[in-house]
Amino acid sequence: MASKANGPLPPLTDLKCAKLSPEQKRQKAAAAADGAGAASSAEWKVTQAEAKAWFVAAGEANTIGQGAYGETRKYLLPSGRWVVVKEFIAIGGFGREGAQREAKAHLAVWRRSDELCRQCMAEPAAMSFETNPNEGSYTVQSLIRADGMTLQTFEELRDTDLESASRLLMHQMSTEKKIDICKAYGAMRACIAKAHTTHDDLHSGNVLCLTNYPMDDAQLPLYAENKDAIVIEWRVVDWGKAVVYDEPGLDPDAQELCWHSADCTKTHDATYNAGYGYVDGDEDCIVEAQDQIPTQLYPLLFEEDSDCSQAKTAKDCVTVADVFRWVREGFANALNKRIPADLAAATERKAREDRAERKFPDGGGGGASSVT
Ligand SMILES: Nc1ncnc2c1ncn2[C@@H]1O[C@H](COP(=O)(O)OP(=O)(O)OP(=O)(O)O)[C@@H](O)[C@H]1O
Ligand SMILES: [Mg+2]
Repeated sequence: MASKANGPLPPLTDLKCAKLSPEQKRQKAAAAADGAGAASSAEWKVTQAEAKAWFVAAGEANTIGQGAYGETRKYLLPSGRWVVVKEFIAIGGFGREGAQREAKAHLAVWRRSDELCRQCMAEPAAMSFETNPNEGSYTVQSLIRADGMTLQTFEELRDTDLESASRLLMHQMSTEKKIDICKAYGAMRACIAKAHTTHDDLHSGNVLCLTNYPMDDAQLPLYAENKDAIVIEWRVVDWGKAVVYDEPGLDPDAQELCWHSADCTKTHDATYNAGYGYVDGDEDCIVEAQDQIPTQLYPLLFEEDSDCSQAKTAKDCVTVADVFRWVREGFANALNKRIPADLAAATERKAREDRAERKFPDGGGGGASSVT
């Protein structure tokens, strides 16, 4: 289901790209996003000069990220709005190019997203790049935040929960709650797909969790009795590597997700976690690069590869393949598509094999499909 485009992007059907190569389509999509640079009055416009002033005023004390491409700071505007300013390092002029590329992709995704999907991401400012690149290059977006919640990178959350045996709070959640967390991650990924985009950098520092998870030990008693009261909402940042695809986007006639087996060896071990995506109107399969989050979700939520000899049902013996399946189901449901039978079968085989290895009583699960 395509989301409603906002702002001045050209109508999807006007792009007439049916016979273009993927590279030509990419270029045309980029041009379309560029052409939409004449932002609507409702859009939030920020200049390089403003962004630089906010970045400097924020100071190092407000640095929230620092990497090879630059530095990210948060800043409270006098208006009361929290913003994030990213400074891009200007080595060989790349800083300006990197800032423009990210600002454009982020804005295109935002314009193509509906209200629900916009909750998964920060609002980007429509940046102007009026200054000389030597003066620095900046992007601005809203700070993701919510009352009563903290924002953690997935990595921070995972490391905190797994750091000591006295934590492992996520293991203690109900299986239903864990399934919901996996499906919600898949639904967040579907928001990226609905914007006809691949993020291409979904690692544990760019996938964030808005959460009431007790990061401080002092808060632990709050959840002593009820681990299911821990809320995790998925967010995504850093559109620096994103590819914004051309329209017409999700093919309404395609009933199934598509997936790429070409990257996988022929073993179903490799197939169960194959990248999956959606079919666009030209029958191209647009697939998000494989991401590490499902693999990392497994040990965060379940006791990894534990002995299953005492398990009564497959629910007592969850495998990494089950986690992949739930994420994929969340993705497919949000796109209103079916999961291809061969992909589902490979995942099920992998789950059975893993359960058999862990001494699951019926040798891995005969007829019944595993954990639902
Ligand atoms: N809109 C936002 N709201 C809240 N936090 C954000 C936002 N954007 C970025 N961050 C935080 O800043 C960090 C760095 O941002 P981002 O990933 O966009 O930059 P980067 O170029 O990858 O830098 P780094 O190498 O530090 O990851 C993120 O991991 C996240 O913790
Ligand atoms: Mg990043």
